[in-house]
Amino acid sequence: MTKIKAENIKKMFKIRSNGNSKNNGNTSKELLALGGVNLSINKGEFLSIVGPSGCGKSTFLDLVGGLTKPNEGNIYIDGKPVNGPGLDRGIVFQQYALFPWRTAIGNVEFGLESKKIAKNERIEIAQKYLSLVGLSGFEERYPYELSGGMKQRVAIARALAFDPDILLMDEPFGALDSQTREILQRELLRIWEETQKTILFITHSIDEAVFLSDRVAIMTARPGVIKNIVDIPLSRAVRFEDDVRTSNEFVRSRHELWGLLKEEVVKAQQIGVKTTLKISSSEKAVAQGEAWT
Ligand SMILES: Nc1ncnc2c1ncn2[C@@H]1O[C@H](COP(=O)(O)OP(=O)(O)OP(=O)(O)O)[C@@H](O)[C@H]1O
Ligand SMILES: [Mg+2]
Repeated sequence: MTKIKAENIKKMFKIRSNGNSKNNGNTSKELLALGGVNLSINKGEFLSIVGPSGCGKSTFLDLVGGLTKPNEGNIYIDGKPVNGPGLDRGIVFQQYALFPWRTAIGNVEFGLESKKIAKNERIEIAQKYLSLVGLSGFEERYPYELSGGMKQRVAIARALAFDPDILLMDEPFGALDSQTREILQRELLRIWEETQKTILFITHSIDEAVFLSDRVAIMTARPGVIKNIVDIPLSRAVRFEDDVRTSNEFVRSRHELWGLLKEEVVKAQQIGVKTTLKISSSEKAVAQGEAWT
């Protein structure tokens, strides 16, 4: 059964062009970030997107999250068009978007408040998820008192705590050290198995994509479209074995993905950074205020 469906999604951004003495930089032009994305994700599926930097992965995730609207096309969840954010979707942004005025536990409690869960229960659930991401004892710290990796772990705990049907995760483990990253990858697999969530996961790591996913979608250089989707033939049980990364299936999948991806990485380098004006996901999240859940 299809959980998320994207139909011909196009997204354009207005960007300032580099000014010169004649126009003082006041002209603007448009940048086509997504050029017609078609993608269906099944209920309970773990699907990752890999693609070169700047190809539109975060843009796509924001659209599924209902934080922005496409210029063309539609996104459906359970057959209904997405018209904005909702408690059915938990988002972990590429750069930890915590509320700076709330402590770690206050941040994790946020989605639970929107679900009208009583204070005592909220604290219990928030503590459980902070402990899951290895942050017991840091409940009362404010974001400025936490390291980058710790902030990202609070953001992950926050997205998990209110138990959304869908998790949208934008390079959630990118800022973590490799040991913590591996622990949380396994933890995420376990949670996914237990809760049957649908997960849309973005990563730069082919290894991570193979380890976690049922299927991996490769996005082209900008304007991003889905170039291929690769099935990962690893059973759940095999993923928890210590030597999974050296198994034939794992190595073959990694090789296949890299073969498809490297052409796009080269293209993206050729497009260069001339036209890019990057607004980070966390800035967008802050601009959305607390409405993002
Ligand atoms: N709000 C915005 N205004 C203008 N341009 C934007 C905006 N957001 C993104 N872009 C541009 O759209 C393109 C896609 O950006 P996006 O952040 O989706 O890329 P990405 O695939 O997530 O890259 P990365 O892997 O580096 O995170 C980039 O060229 C970026 O500069
Ligand atoms: Mg991104």
